[in-house]
Amino acid sequence: MGNNRNIVILTGAGVSAESGIDTFRDGGGLWEQHRVEDVATPEAFQRDPDLVLRFYDMRREAVQTKEPNAAHHALARLEREPDGDVLIVTQNVDDLHERAGAKNVLYMHGELLNAWCTACDARSRWTGTLIDRPTCPACGAPALRPDIVWFGEMPYRMEEIYGALRRADLFVSIGTSGAVYPAAGFVRDAREMGVETLELNLERSEGSSWFHETRLGPATEIVPAWVDELVDAG
Ligand code: OAD
Repeated sequence: MGNNRNIVILTGAGVSAESGIDTFRDGGGLWEQHRVEDVATPEAFQRDPDLVLRFYDMRREAVQTKEPNAAHHALARLEREPDGDVLIVTQNVDDLHERAGAKNVLYMHGELLNAWCTACDARSRWTGTLIDRPTCPACGAPALRPDIVWFGEMPYRMEEIYGALRRADLFVSIGTSGAVYPAAGFVRDAREMGVETLELNLERSEGSSWFHETRLGPATEIVPAWVDELVDAG
């Protein structure tokens, strides 16, 4: 893998777009169809839990009909390279990296296929619906919510992410618009730590000028090409 042995990869909705999962901010994206304040905040869940549960039930059902694409597979292949250390930090709540075979995936915005019990704090694998108020497998309370980080809540495992960035030689951002912090700030953090930075995206993201290099194109083309290049160089 050339000189870049420790790689932190941040992925966003763009990596799953060609699997048929809607992004958030592109034309026709999820935030054009729904208002963030209605479905993705703790206040929305308090005000109208049925609306919020139904929104995530629909997304949970949809994601199980989708398949990983060439970009997910390429990243899993990179992870399997023997002489490198790859961490995939994803803002996505789908499980497509894992289904492509990636093992080292950190879900900073939670997971659609988890339910989180607000009574006992247990997380349970969840493929069905939550609208019918099922009980928590761990404690029996009907207190499950989607295990999704909503606006106003703290993303998961931030210390681990910053630790990985400090050890990294290369930070790569794939398929994210750079609109949501703290993930949008990783490129600046990485640069301050002296880490090489690369952006792979369909179009320039909001923080594009922070990257040492930007390559534009659909993820299913530019991600496998980049992985080939890296593996061949090693
Ligand atoms: P966005 O919808 O904001 O951005 C998607 C990015 O992917 C855009 O920059 C597109 O240009 C790019 N893109 C679209 N199709 C692509 C393709 N085929 N190949 C490569 N790139 C493509 O999604 P995110 O940046 O992931 O948070 O959004 C970040 C967070 O905002 C999400 O995790 C979610 C949302 O609100 C929460 O729900 C907490």
